[in-house]
Amino acid sequence: MNDKVIWITGASSGIGKALAIKFAKEGWKVAISARREDLLNEIAKNNQNIFPFPLDVTDYEKCKLVFNDIKNKLKNIDISFFCTGMHDPKSEKELNIEKIKQIMNVNYFGTINSINAVYNYYKEKKTGQISIVSSVAGYRGLPAAGGYCASKSALTTFAESLYFDLKRFNVRVSIVSPGFIKTPMTDQNDFLMPMIKSPEFAAEKIFKGLTKSNSFEIHFPKQFTFMMKILKVMPNWLYLKIVKKGMSLIGR
Ligand SMILES: NC(=O)c1ccc[n+]([C@@H]2O[C@H](COP(=O)([O-])OP(=O)(O)OC[C@H]3O[C@@H](n4cnc5c(N)ncnc54)[C@H](OP(=O)(O)O)[C@@H]3O)[C@@H](O)[C@H]2O)c1
Repeated sequence: MNDKVIWITGASSGIGKALAIKFAKEGWKVAISARREDLLNEIAKNNQNIFPFPLDVTDYEKCKLVFNDIKNKLKNIDISFFCTGMHDPKSEKELNIEKIKQIMNVNYFGTINSINAVYNYYKEKKTGQISIVSSVAGYRGLPAAGGYCASKSALTTFAESLYFDLKRFNVRVSIVSPGFIKTPMTDQNDFLMPMIKSPEFAAEKIFKGLTKSNSFEIHFPKQFTFMMKILKVMPNWLYLKIVKKGMSLIGR
């Protein structure tokens, strides 16, 4: 065991859970948050380095309280990893304003609430890292994913601004842009997901990106994310033409 601490939100399943287990195996103390307390307790029961701190990130005040609880219990938070997210592919097939508001509230404002809870702490500490899970879906608008893409694109640009702000205080800001990872979130998708990887694969890449590199963006699997990066810089007419064709190939 070392004395390093990471706080992971969205840790009751999928990528966040796999990352919590990876960090715990590497000897870190891991504070895990999400709404489903039973799942958090189950993860902690099997890992002595993992400590549950239930939280709904849409609750602005609760984010601050939970952050204080973690700080009091574990003394220090080296990395804050904000992984909370939701997607509702069925609702995205039509314009559903209530769902879009909910997605923005969880993915975007929930993450901002979490950042707000730790912002002054890192600014004063003048060391540490805030990492935000975005997505390659934030690069450009994809078909039948408008609410989700918009929430991730908002997060990515917010993180870029935050990078400049906190760089002056020696605090690292990073974003994570995964391709398709097999989790309860992507289990809802009814189309073929190219180059889909396991949460454990994602956890390995994220662990390395957070602890052994200093880059702004951690993205994987590279074969897929480089393709998405090419789409990102294409002129609109070409992007729209290629994606329309690509979508029919994967059954969308
Ligand atoms: N899987 C992919 O292919 C993929 C690709 C790119 C980006 N991502 C991003 O990766 C992150 C993790 O997603 P995942 O694929 O691992 O899906 P997941 O297994 O569904 O995980 C989502 C996590 O967010 C938590 N959550 C949802 N709403 C919450 C709220 N209001 N307050 C607190 N926690 C909340 C969930 O826990 P509770 O329900 O217990 O609260 C769960 O732990 C998300 O930000 C997602 O957008 C995923």
